[in-house]
Amino acid sequence: MMKRIDPIQINWKPAKNKVIPVYKQIIQYVCDRVASGEWVIGARLPSQRTMAKLFNVNRSTISIAIDELTSYGIISGKSGAGTQIVSNTWALMLPTKPSWKKLISSGYFQENNYRLQQINQLEFEPNIARLGTGELDLRLFPQKMWTEVLQKMSTEITSWGYAEPLGILELREAIVEHMRQFGINVSTENILVTSGALQALQLIASCMLKEGSTVFTEAPTYLKSLQMFQSAGLKLNGITMDHDGLEYWKIKNQIKNSESSILYTIPTNQNPTGITMSDIRRKELMDFCIKNRLPIIEDGAYQELCFDNDQFKPLKSIDDNGMVMYLGSASKTLAPGLRIGWVIASKPVIQRLGDAKMQMDYGASSLSQLVFAEFLKSGKYSSYLVDLKKTLKKRRDNALECLTKYFSQLATWNKPIGGFYIWLTFNESIEVDDIFERALKKKILLNPGDIYDFKHNRSIRISFAYLECDEFKESIKKLALLLMDK
Ligand SMILES: Cc1ncc(COP(=O)(O)O)c(C=O)c1O
Repeated sequence: MMKRIDPIQINWKPAKNKVIPVYKQIIQYVCDRVASGEWVIGARLPSQRTMAKLFNVNRSTISIAIDELTSYGIISGKSGAGTQIVSNTWALMLPTKPSWKKLISSGYFQENNYRLQQINQLEFEPNIARLGTGELDLRLFPQKMWTEVLQKMSTEITSWGYAEPLGILELREAIVEHMRQFGINVSTENILVTSGALQALQLIASCMLKEGSTVFTEAPTYLKSLQMFQSAGLKLNGITMDHDGLEYWKIKNQIKNSESSILYTIPTNQNPTGITMSDIRRKELMDFCIKNRLPIIEDGAYQELCFDNDQFKPLKSIDDNGMVMYLGSASKTLAPGLRIGWVIASKPVIQRLGDAKMQMDYGASSLSQLVFAEFLKSGKYSSYLVDLKKTLKKRRDNALECLTKYFSQLATWNKPIGGFYIWLTFNESIEVDDIFERALKKKILLNPGDIYDFKHNRSIRISFAYLECDEFKESIKKLALLLMDK
């Protein structure tokens, strides 16, 4: 996909009373914009006449400046609006500010996919219907509970120091208790509190996997939408799924060296497909990983959102051999703004990750840790979750009804047992990129499947968690009409 180039904006004028000639000031101004990365290669300058107006100088002054910039090789094209920035290297040799453009692309951490950058911005546009977003409807915020918890905190907290390296003990104790209902029986030394599950992934990528290692994962997967593993020089290898989850046997021929391979999986309410791995597949997968000495990162971000019951126990609950590192998060159930997640693993792993975390941020926010501990200990979290699951289930059922009504002829989809997502695959060779742009004009924001996949696809990730039933229906109807009006 071509990256859009923002049009050049000029809101500066040369100072006519300076010793430096005006045309030189203009040259310097252009060089500064190019060297700082504000004006990128390919950006077009306004016509000479417009520039003369904007700079409040004669056309002849502009002409001299343009000639000189052309001779440096910074711009090309003589006149009209055809003059473009063609190089930023010469500009660096001129006395100017540091090249932020060059510096910001020098680090090892890769940029987000362009479409994701765009979505991250568009999510904050007013009145936009976020049809694929990975966040709970903000209107489901349990205001009364928050008030109670925060009021209690305000009288109980007497100081704000740094927290212990693995996270505040009170929270780790509450997490230990909380995880028992999912069949995970561990002690506080097996838990590291992180700033969201994302940080746990970051810690694992940077502490435990060496460059060139292979990370097997579902295809499509949330991990593909992040650049952190790729930035660490890790190779992602996408393995297809069926209705029961990851087709783990396909990994077999691809494991070159189990010492430098790991599996990342979201077995429950997978992001982006909504698929939940069956119990039989979980057992088989564990056996396969034990046999092949393949460690597992189990992402349980949506584990607590099974609508009917919790029969799908985490892999960690059947992990007798210590193969699994489990990631939990408060983001999908309660509040992503808390930035609280946790890792459950063997003590040496927790110690290593905890040590790295101390070097990174010296602990997750103490306020967030204490707030989440209070939610867990008071029983408020559990009772809130019962209501939340009821609401989400209603929204899922409404979403499936809407899809049957408006998309039966256009697409296929799955029925998730929980979580946020439905994976919608268009029948015909519909270009999702094209639909994205057209939907955007109707104020509907989509999450194209390509963001999460290893190959081009015809799918989008639908979320029923963000919009109310009526809003969802309206957006789905608009989208169907738009598709039929190809
Ligand atoms: C599967 C999965 N893991 C982790 C995260 C990130 O969670 P957190 O907000 O706890 O960093 C997300 C968020 O979309 C997710 O979908």
